[in-house]
Amino acid sequence: MPALITVAAAKGGVGKTTLAYELAAALEAVLVDLDWDAGGATRMWGFDPTSAARAPLLDALERGPDSDRVPRLKRRVNRPTLFPSHPDLAASAISADLVADCLETWATQWDEAVVVDTHPGANELTDGAIAVADLLLVPVTLGNREFAALDAMLDDFSAYRMMLVPTMVPTVPARRQVNRLAAMAKGRARVAPPISEHRWIRRRLRRAAIVKQPNPGVNVNRAAAEFRAVAEAVREELS
Ligand SMILES: Nc1ncnc2c1ncn2[C@@H]1O[C@H](COP(=O)(O)OP(=O)(O)O)[C@@H](O)[C@H]1O
Ligand SMILES: [Mg+2]
Repeated sequence: MPALITVAAAKGGVGKTTLAYELAAALEAVLVDLDWDAGGATRMWGFDPTSAARAPLLDALERGPDSDRVPRLKRRVNRPTLFPSHPDLAASAISADLVADCLETWATQWDEAVVVDTHPGANELTDGAIAVADLLLVPVTLGNREFAALDAMLDDFSAYRMMLVPTMVPTVPARRQVNRLAAMAKGRARVAPPISEHRWIRRRLRRAAIVKQPNPGVNVNRAAAEFRAVAEAVREELS
């Protein structure tokens, strides 16, 4: 069975999509975009899902895991292979069980590792993707309020293998916060190497993955090395 990694967090804006995108590219995995919001991986990739008459992801979920039609993927140089999202997913009545069964079947049919990006908070699609994941990857920003939410999440998902990824970490991280995260994770989750705050990432228009960008400069190289280190930690955890 190819590995299935789900990226999830209680709230938006913590770097889920960026992490899922880079991780899928670094691992040469399929990125399944289960987030229906406009700011998601599908548009980052350069595909406008409303330009298509159909929502392939929704169609495939409705056909179910027993269909022998293998969902078609979008492939483009320097980008992760993509199963794109669609706004109609927001109003769908797909159950978590169906999502879980479909993801498992597709991973086998594609015969490629799968990284799933999710809509923030609890919902059926995210729950299904978490239930079937070999590894639940949770980006965390370092802050007191964030830690309370993280503690609850570590309890809620204690049944799953979890890895916390510190993201948007300031150049000079508060040592106390780093230590607190390590203490909180102890015995409950692994902590991946951190992703720094790279202010240029917010202004980025390019859709090539950072880890696949041709002729990277110093800044891109630094970020790419961080994302690759997380990919390596994931690989190690799953081996
Ligand atoms: N390491 C980082 N440093 C700085 N900005 C980042 C970083 N990772 C993501 N961002 C930016 O933060 C915003 C939210 O990131 P995103 O990946 O869309 O998070 P989410 O999927 O959790 O909502 C985006 O503008 C993104 O470009
Ligand atoms: Mg997102």
